[in-house]
Amino acid sequence: MTQSTRWKDIWAAKAREVIPDFDLDRGFSSRVEEIERLSEHELIDFIGPGRSEIILDAGCGTGVNISRLYSRVKKIIGIDFAPGSIERCQKRIAAQNIQNAEVLVGSIIQTSLPDHAVDKVICLSVMQYLDDHEVRLALREFSRILSPGGLVILHVKNRASLYWLTLLVAKRLKMLFRRSTNCYNVRPFKWYLHELSALGYKTEDFNGFNLLTLDKMPKWLTSFLQRFELRHYRHWLFQTALVRGHMADLKIRAKFNGGLEVGSVRDEMNNHCAIADASQLD
Ligand SMILES: C[S@@+](CC[C@H](N)C(=O)[O-])C[C@H]1O[C@@H](n2cnc3c(N)ncnc32)[C@H](O)[C@@H]1O
Repeated sequence: MTQSTRWKDIWAAKAREVIPDFDLDRGFSSRVEEIERLSEHELIDFIGPGRSEIILDAGCGTGVNISRLYSRVKKIIGIDFAPGSIERCQKRIAAQNIQNAEVLVGSIIQTSLPDHAVDKVICLSVMQYLDDHEVRLALREFSRILSPGGLVILHVKNRASLYWLTLLVAKRLKMLFRRSTNCYNVRPFKWYLHELSALGYKTEDFNGFNLLTLDKMPKWLTSFLQRFELRHYRHWLFQTALVRGHMADLKIRAKFNGGLEVGSVRDEMNNHCAIADASQLD
């Protein structure tokens, strides 16, 4: 059984539970409203949606990002392998009378979309449910359906962060004592840069938050730190590659070059100052 098949069953069951859409997608209850607003602003800024663009939301869940983006783009397509999430998505689209969205049940590894069908692919908080091979297949699939020069925007969990280091140790300990947890694949940021480069993508930018939060931190402190980071994410301190490369929640924006003409990963990294900076990280 692959990582993806295991998670497909888990997500299908979760989507049938009687819980709010937000809790289903995020795995926790709603955050402070201001943090949601700031994080939405930062996300939209990073995606940079354009009026003439067709966007694929790969692993769309209940469609929160469809609600955020539909009015800013020509069309948005959502794909998710949990039928219950797509049902919720359809209800959301009907309730908000959204005319330019289409949602499909399916895997992001192999979609039914034609070649060059979309200008951007956003894939937010999904890659941790795929094994390494499946991530590569998904990135290949995105490059097939992207128009030339199209962009992929990933939101990934970064193992090179305080938060994930502490959480993963706790999870491993739980597994050791057979209080098994569903473990997902949290990879270091550099792993994604490497894979993107090897598949012919050029990383344009990366950004994130949750630099200082830890698992089991009091809620008020987590909220305080998140609010602080989101308010000041443009500050030079948060813009240095060294700091960004250690944030727990990272967004990466990469352009598909249309082929694998790039040289070695190291050459690619040296060509791009942000990535070259990040290469100091470990
Ligand atoms: C944590 S939720 C994120 C939902 C949404 N992207 C967001 O940011 O709110 C992860 C979603 O990815 C979907 N997913 C995971 N692996 C997938 C795959 N291989 N193909 C399609 N959907 C997948 C799950 O069903 C779930 O709805």
